[in-house]
Amino acid sequence: MIKVIITPDAHTLAIAASQFIAGRLLRRPNLVLGLATGGTVIDLYSELVRRYKAGEIDFNHVTTFNLDEYVGLPPYHPQSYQTFMFKHLFSHINIPRSHIHLLNGMAQDTKRECRDYETAIAATGGIDLQILGIGRNGHIAFNEPGAKRNSRTRKVRLSDDTIAANGDGRFFKNSNVVPHEALSMGIETIMEAREILLLATGSGKSLAIKRALQEPPSDDLPASFLQTHPACTFILDREASSLLNNQQVTFEIISHERIRA
Ligand code: PGA
Repeated sequence: MIKVIITPDAHTLAIAASQFIAGRLLRRPNLVLGLATGGTVIDLYSELVRRYKAGEIDFNHVTTFNLDEYVGLPPYHPQSYQTFMFKHLFSHINIPRSHIHLLNGMAQDTKRECRDYETAIAATGGIDLQILGIGRNGHIAFNEPGAKRNSRTRKVRLSDDTIAANGDGRFFKNSNVVPHEALSMGIETIMEAREILLLATGSGKSLAIKRALQEPPSDDLPASFLQTHPACTFILDREASSLLNNQQVTFEIISHERIRA
């Protein structure tokens, strides 16, 4: 059953998530960490950087795998996920460059790029902890509605909703310049992580969160497959949790401020 932590706001969520990750890192300094990009994780990464600079955590033995990358953006493009990761996390911590794994959206042979990524994950022994955001359409990584439970790292098409969400001015200045394709870990790849931590903030995510937790798993809402993962935790802010119905026991609240009856 998915464990749920509800925090009062996005700032508290970032602190709670960084505490969660720091705890895992202290137990296992050579943690293999799956990482996400997007607006939700920016505050989390600054909290991790703060803890690193304060000497609380160390990344020297950590290995990372990012979830996805846009097809056709050079690695140093301002909106590539590689640029995002260096800007918000990697440039500020002591992780060795050789421990960082990112999909190459410019790869000529995308099938091979994706196969090699799966091989690299397997060679580390697998991902210990995968961090996820969620799309307002319920996507995880770029596994859009309709993505299969047994999907692995591959080239995918972004849904119109995702193109609109990422072209709203936060990242790309409009949807016309958002790439239509990406390389993305598959749902099976994500489900093989030993532990999963999904983060969501804001009312725009509340319906996706309700459906992920309270509707039967289905490829209509890829995040709903997480219900079948043995060790999955959601950290939500109050707004993202606002549509949950706690009369319907499909998840376990392990800490919260308040939840609608
Ligand atoms: P966001 O993206 O954090 O920018 O909302 C999350 C996602 O699409 O997975």
